[in-house]
Amino acid sequence: MSSKTEFASKIGLVAATVGSAVGLGNIWRFPAVTQEGGGSAFLLLYVLCVLLLGIPVMLAEFSLGRGTKSDSIGAFRKYTPGKPWWIVGALAVLASYLILCFYTVVEGWTLEYLFESITGGLFSGLGDADIAESRAFFGGRMEEYVCSDLRPLIFVFVAIIVNMAVLLGGVQKGIERLSNVLMPVLFVILAVLMGVSLTLPDASEGVSYFLSPDFSKVTPKVVFSALGQAFFSLSLGMGILITYSSYYPKDTRLARTSVIVAVLSLLVAVMVGLVIFPAVKSFGLDDESLQGATLVFVTLPEIFARLPLPQLWSALFFVLLAVAAVTSCISIAEVSVATLQDRCHLSRTKAVLCVMLPLTVLSALPSLSFGSLEGLKIFGMTVFDFLDNFSTNILLPIVSFGVCLYVGHVLPKSYLHDELTNNGTVRSPLNSVSAFVIRWLAPVLIALVFIYDFL
Ligand code: PFF
Repeated sequence: MSSKTEFASKIGLVAATVGSAVGLGNIWRFPAVTQEGGGSAFLLLYVLCVLLLGIPVMLAEFSLGRGTKSDSIGAFRKYTPGKPWWIVGALAVLASYLILCFYTVVEGWTLEYLFESITGGLFSGLGDADIAESRAFFGGRMEEYVCSDLRPLIFVFVAIIVNMAVLLGGVQKGIERLSNVLMPVLFVILAVLMGVSLTLPDASEGVSYFLSPDFSKVTPKVVFSALGQAFFSLSLGMGILITYSSYYPKDTRLARTSVIVAVLSLLVAVMVGLVIFPAVKSFGLDDESLQGATLVFVTLPEIFARLPLPQLWSALFFVLLAVAAVTSCISIAEVSVATLQDRCHLSRTKAVLCVMLPLTVLSALPSLSFGSLEGLKIFGMTVFDFLDNFSTNILLPIVSFGVCLYVGHVLPKSYLHDELTNNGTVRSPLNSVSAFVIRWLAPVLIALVFIYDFL
C-alpha cells in the first residue's frame, strides 16, 4: 500500500482540500441562498450545519478514503467485496463527472470575464452617462459572453486545457503545488476586496443585514437550504473527499484536518458576504437579483464600474473566482482519474486524457444550452440545468446518505474510532459525537431534505 501516491506535506493536503471545498459554492451560491434565506438567520443556520453535521460527514468520507487508500468505488469494495455497496461509490463517480461537465462551462465563463477585465473589454463602451443604464449594459455583455455560441466554447476549451495541465502534473506536482500557491492568493484577494467594500458609504447597512440575526425568517425551507449549502460547500457526496483523503499519509489527524477545512470554508463564505452585501447596499442595488449568474456577471461588474479603477477590482475578483473554480474543478476531475487508475490500471496520463478529452463534447453541450441548443430539453430542462439539478439535488444526497449508512452501520464501530484516533495513538474529541451524527442524525436529516425537495 505504501506505493499509493500521497500528498507531500500537511500544509499541502490542507491547501488541496480547502481548494476543493472553496469553490463557486462559497463565492457565488452562498450570497444568493443567504439572501433568499433572509440574511443573517440563514448564516447562523449554515454555520451550525457545517459544524454539527458537515464535519462528521466529512470525517466519514475521510475515514473511508484514508482507511482504504482507494478510489471512491474501491473504498466500498475493500471491506465488503461482493456486496452492492460499491454502487454508492459508482454514483459518486457519476455525480462528480456530471458536475464536472457543467462546472467546466462556468470555469470557462470565469476565465473569459478575467480576460475581458484585464483587456478592458468588459467596460469598453460604458461612458459616464451610461452608468444609470449599467444593468442593461452588463446584461448585454453577459448575453455576448455567455449566451453566444463560439466565445464561451473557446473559453471552455481553455478551461479544459488548464485543468488537464494541472492533473497531468500529478497529485504532488500538479494539484498540491498549485493549491499551495493559489490558496494564499485567494485569501489575500478576498481580504483586499473586503477592505474596499467595508469602506464604501453606508457599508454598515449591508453588514448588519448579513450579521445581525432575524429569527422570524427561519422556516423549514431555510433550514434545509442551509443544510444543502453546507454539504455542497464542503464538497460532500461527490467522492472528492474520499479520493483526496486516500492521498493522506497514515499519520494525518483527520479530525483536526476536517475542522481546519470547515472553518476556512466558513471563513471564505463570511468574507464573501462582507464583500457582497455592503457593496450591494451601498450602491442601492439590493433590489437586483443576487441569483445565479446575474450576481457575478451583472451586479458585480455594475459595482466595479462605480468604483475608481474598475478594471483593477474586476480583474482581482475574477482571479479570485478563477482560483476557486480551478482548484475545485481539478478535485472533481480527480475522482474519475483516480477511479480509472485504480479500477482499470491505467497510467495517470492515460486516465487524465480519458477523463478530460470527452469534455470537449460533453461540456460543449451545456455551454451551447445558453445559445443555439437552448431548445434542447431533458425533462423540461436545458442540458445545463438538467446536469445541475440531477447531480446536486438527487445524486449528492443519495451518496452522502449511503456513505453515512456504510461507515455508521456496515463497517464495524471500531473502524471510525481507529481512523479518527490513528489506531489509538492520538486522542480525538470528535469521536463519539461524530459516530452519533454519522449513524443517526445525518442520515435522517439528509432523507428529510431529499423528501422535502420533492414535495
Ligand atoms: N465545495 C465546492 C464548491 O463550493 O464549489 C463544491 C464543488 C462543486 C467542488 C463543483 C467541485 C466542483 F467541481
